[in-house]
Amino acid sequence: MRLTKEQLEQFDREGYLFFPGLFKPEETKTLTAAVPELYARREAYNVREKGSDAVRTNFAAHMVSEPFARLARHPRMVRPVMDLFDEQVYMHQFKINGKMAFEGDVWQWHQDYGTWLNDDMMPTERAMNVAIFLDDVNEYNGPLMFIPGSHKKGVVEARHDLTTTSYPLWTVSNDLIAQLVERAGGKDGGIVSPKGPAGSMILFHSCLVHASTSNLSPWNRVSVYLSLCAVSNHIRRFKRPEYIAHRDFTPIECLPDDCLRMPYPVDVPWKNGMPASALVTSSEPIDQIKKAA
Ligand code: SIN
Ligand code: MN
Repeated sequence: MRLTKEQLEQFDREGYLFFPGLFKPEETKTLTAAVPELYARREAYNVREKGSDAVRTNFAAHMVSEPFARLARHPRMVRPVMDLFDEQVYMHQFKINGKMAFEGDVWQWHQDYGTWLNDDMMPTERAMNVAIFLDDVNEYNGPLMFIPGSHKKGVVEARHDLTTTSYPLWTVSNDLIAQLVERAGGKDGGIVSPKGPAGSMILFHSCLVHASTSNLSPWNRVSVYLSLCAVSNHIRRFKRPEYIAHRDFTPIECLPDDCLRMPYPVDVPWKNGMPASALVTSSEPIDQIKKAA
């Protein structure tokens, strides 16, 4: 899938692109079917909501589950990002966010690149998210919200929030959000929330400010996020465990377009558990680690 000139211009202006219904139900069904077994695992890579057993985020399913390993190599998800960066990309992060019915908690306003810079020492913004909905997303089940054009501000001031939800995040203050929303059109388009059927895809810039509210509806809102980083822009610090911020900078090789319908062989090295090394962290930049070794 190649992005058109209009799509490239829209991405530059607004910081995201939405592709409603890009994947068909026969493609998403193998993914959806694999989620309950992944979420049931008692592993560090399942982060549960505060005070609840509902999974908020499952990390690194592409290392554990064949359907997700194929999605991680899907040309419809990976190629547009390679085109935008004009470079090969590697998987920086892979997550399946639950946002489960009644229990899915908020994601505060943030930029992903803020976390990737502050925690992982990723040198520049040359990384972005591509998300696919595994459930229909409507106005009731906590859709993602974007502030269009906010990516043009670069990295904005953020504070490390360790308490609001079960997952630490560099979040943006209410005052700055109010300013950014006003600048983007206020009540007239200052916040947008792409909604659509399961199989829809969203691609968004790593500096685009986004959030989502809690899910008080009876409908799950499971979505998968691939965070793809240009290979030359790989992280320089392993402060977070490997299942959250990956350390294998090998370029992704795409599978054929029908890879969610055909059982192409894929490697799933963490199928029977993560290696102990995936939990090891260091606050030193990686050139220091190499020197000390
Ligand atoms: C995220 O920003 O990483 C997740 C937001 C969401 O799933 O609503
Ligand atoms: Mn995010």
